[in-house]
Amino acid sequence: MTKKKTTLLCVVAIVIVLFQYCTKKKGEATVEEPASVLNLPATPYAYNVSFPAHVATALAQTDNTPAGNAITDNGATLGRVLFYDKSLSINNTIACASCHKQSNSFTDPAPKSSGFAGGLTARHSMSTMNVRFYASGKMFWDERAATLEDQVLQPIQNSVEMGMTLPALVTKLADKPYYPGLFQSAFGSPTITSDRISKALAQFVRSIVTYQAKYDRVKSGQDVFTPIEAQGEQLFLTAAGPGGNTCASCHRPPMFITSNPAAPFALADPSDHGIDNQNRFKSGTLRNSAVATSLFHNGSVANVGAMLAGGIPQHSVPPPDRAALLAFLQTLTDNTVLTEARFSDPFK
Ligand code: HEC
Ligand code: HEC
Repeated sequence: MTKKKTTLLCVVAIVIVLFQYCTKKKGEATVEEPASVLNLPATPYAYNVSFPAHVATALAQTDNTPAGNAITDNGATLGRVLFYDKSLSINNTIACASCHKQSNSFTDPAPKSSGFAGGLTARHSMSTMNVRFYASGKMFWDERAATLEDQVLQPIQNSVEMGMTLPALVTKLADKPYYPGLFQSAFGSPTITSDRISKALAQFVRSIVTYQAKYDRVKSGQDVFTPIEAQGEQLFLTAAGPGGNTCASCHRPPMFITSNPAAPFALADPSDHGIDNQNRFKSGTLRNSAVATSLFHNGSVANVGAMLAGGIPQHSVPPPDRAALLAFLQTLTDNTVLTEARFSDPFK
């Protein structure tokens, strides 16, 4: 071999090694499986709890739980594992909980959320709290999912969010040591299907209800509003804005989910017109919104204080009313859900 040829071979070899090194680094994130150490209690947590009367009454009127998918402790437990399992994304980097963080009232503090390849979602993440109180059952800001059971399978298949296909997911989950037993407990046989994945995720999401805020203690006769909180509640219930609507006519107590997305309202946004392209949006629960950042469908409103002062139609109020409305909205904050074990990451 001539010196020239050896040099050439060396260069080729170095290039190959470099190439492998680079592609390996890139590939590693896609092959590495997340930690599969599950930490579940011997007896499952209780997911059907008794609510105070004002919440129970609202639930009886608005519950979107379909026949055939009532919450069971084993079903919601499986749903909890799925909700926190990064295996639901194609490269094992993103779980539902990545964009719906327990510590952040099951939404994302950022205006938009990052998917499995770093791409951003088109809208702000919605809270998964209290969704079972949305009577029509339609999900997403633009209500494009007819039911929660339909909705929960969409992020899995979304090309920005998790990038999977359902057949690939079923195969992938069957290879995990922990799933056959969890499906057996939840559904009576170890068979994994996308229908069962959907049902279990929906059960877990429906179980996330806030009912232990100051507001709830007041409505149960165990506490009283301060004068400014009481003034804020009166404004919320009775002060009509220029359109003749009160806050409560669109965000109905006690769960404060939009009761009437037919009343046209959207934050002005040239690139997004919501439901049927008609400048209408759903809003999720206002509970815990007083501690949230990045509000509205595009996450562009920094917080409730900025909303009340920002000149937003139907949402900004005269200076003397701001402190009272804010004080009232703060009584809707329930901190127990932020740490409750039955809603927490079971892989820790
Ligand atoms: C990459 C971030 C991301 C991931 C991962 C993700 N979501 Fe979401 N979620 C969002 C965004 C953004 C929206 C609002 C999208 C829209 O309206 O177009 C949303 C909306 C929802 C809603 C609608 C709530 C309502 O009131 O209408 C539910 C329920 C939900 N997600 C549950 C889940 C579940 C269950 C998973 C896992 C299977 C999941 N999400 C994974 C970002 C994410
Ligand atoms: C005409 C119906 C209507 C009225 C009146 C109304 N809202 Fe809303 N509200 C909505 C809709 C719809 C959205 C979501 C719109 C969007 O994202 O573009 C929303 C969003 C919000 C949000 C952000 C929710 C989130 O999860 O990001 C808060 C907080 C809020 N409203 C509080 C109030 C308060 C307080 C009042 C009274 C001062 C009020 N709203 C009056 C319909 C209404």
